[in-house]
Amino acid sequence: MEKRAWWKEAVIYQIYPRSFMDSNGDGVGDLEGIRQKLPYLEQLGIDVIWLSPVYQSPNDDNGYDISDYRDIMTEFGTMADFDRMLEEAHERGIRIVMDLVVNHTSDEHAWFIESRKSKENPYRDYYIWKEPKDGKEPNNWESSFSGPAWELDEATGMYYLHCFSKKQPDLNWENPKVRDEVFDMMTWWCEKGIDGFRMDVISMISKVQSFPDGELKKDGVFGDMSPYVCNGPRVHEYLQEMNRRVLSHYDLLTVGEAAGVTIDEAKKYANTDGTELNMVFQFEHMDALQQSESVVGKWTLAKPKMETVREILNRWQIRLEGNAWNSLYLDNHDQPRAVSRFGNDDPQWRALSAKMLATCLHMMKGTPYIYQGEELGMTNMHFTDISDCRDIEELNAYHQYVEEFKMVSAETMLACFDNVARDNARTPMQWDGSENAGFTGGTPWIAVNPNYKEINAEAALKDPESIFHYYQKLIRLRHENPVIVYGIFKPLMEESKTVYAYERILAEEGKKLIVACNWTMEKQPCALFDNVEGEELISNYKEHIPGMLQPYEARVMLKFSE
Ligand code: GLC
Ligand code: CA
Repeated sequence: MEKRAWWKEAVIYQIYPRSFMDSNGDGVGDLEGIRQKLPYLEQLGIDVIWLSPVYQSPNDDNGYDISDYRDIMTEFGTMADFDRMLEEAHERGIRIVMDLVVNHTSDEHAWFIESRKSKENPYRDYYIWKEPKDGKEPNNWESSFSGPAWELDEATGMYYLHCFSKKQPDLNWENPKVRDEVFDMMTWWCEKGIDGFRMDVISMISKVQSFPDGELKKDGVFGDMSPYVCNGPRVHEYLQEMNRRVLSHYDLLTVGEAAGVTIDEAKKYANTDGTELNMVFQFEHMDALQQSESVVGKWTLAKPKMETVREILNRWQIRLEGNAWNSLYLDNHDQPRAVSRFGNDDPQWRALSAKMLATCLHMMKGTPYIYQGEELGMTNMHFTDISDCRDIEELNAYHQYVEEFKMVSAETMLACFDNVARDNARTPMQWDGSENAGFTGGTPWIAVNPNYKEINAEAALKDPESIFHYYQKLIRLRHENPVIVYGIFKPLMEESKTVYAYERILAEEGKKLIVACNWTMEKQPCALFDNVEGEELISNYKEHIPGMLQPYEARVMLKFSE
């Protein structure tokens, strides 16, 4: 029998604090706002909150650039606010998982301020410094946020590596002192009583030390750094050390954000022996589309095909079985809204398709993640001008591709942003139909999606048929039915181009689930439920048609296996 664990049985809710709830009218979400909304999350029924970073930060990348790991971002409140929120969450049976951003710090972190002072500074080797090559960058790598991954620092005439913005210098994990500092800091948070870590780009902490040029990208200017920074030579050694020195001493949920991770790599990161992490976020189902049909870089106008998504997710389901544990997600703060990307955000289909996607994901094997507002069916934004955008990734890409290289028109770039930009996920949480969607009494830091009058939590709570109540039921079902957590996954109807179907089998209980989801707005043939006796666990339709799934219909049946 598979080993049981609370983090396998839990449903996680991700909060992007800046956009969740503003309690003091400065237009920025905060910890007190989160505390006030705990009853809402308790009502939804989630077990764990993953908090995007709340540490002290100059906010070049909204908190993913940390200047003090042991202090709270001024805009979000104080450590006392944090402690109060943590305590109240625990009282309500909700655990708190922190974002751990240790591939890089802010350039305003005390370590970097020291490091850049001189070549002899004791903190010099906390970061990755290289001499210029032919008077230029040490290699051709492009940063994940456009432009070179190296920045020249005047004080010593050397370059430092930044895989993200130039205000996010990469830490040098080869230096044992850096590892000591990180592990001490993690222990400090664990002693405070937090319940786990979501580890930011953790697959990037070990770099190939020869720092070679990368293969030239489509723009012909920059090289691809990923083979030299993702899943690097010492990454598993570092994580095993972290596990021995910190993680194994506490009862934590650990999930690694693992850019570029393959299934074979994931089996190491999330191995069942528990020597590294509980699970990873893989990116295949997010990235497949960008690589094949991009305008430039990650920017695309294309929509993913169900068959592609299914092929990827099924492969992860099957190949991790018995070897590692999956995480399940369709959106987060770095992705467009799931209903707009994979479903249909037209008012006629929004609720049906959002419920269908939720069913398809939550009935799979793994730990499901819900991103704030997903439970309301919040949709992508429409960006009419670059001045609407806040995300450094968008601003840099616009600058590079539209203004500097003139490779893409402003219209096309904005259309790409409407489709895949991270700001789609970062518009304020829509709480009610009042001004600014009840998010703030002031001016929100990023515009509220104009559809908040129809799409908001207050309306959803009043409507028994809402997406919110559907998620509530999915979560409850998972808590009540071990087959949803532990059942073995088997794909069905793989020849269909429109229906995503599978079964889950828990032999020890003699139980079986049949799950079928129509990813289109036309009815589709599906005979899986014809003449089958069982209990319907959940569906987004009240009536069914034999031999058919109606537009965006999702159906889950529980039966005793023969
Ligand atoms: C991760 C975060 C993202 C951030 C980046 C750099 O991908 O999820 O929001 O910009 O790391 O820290
Ligand atoms: Ca505030």
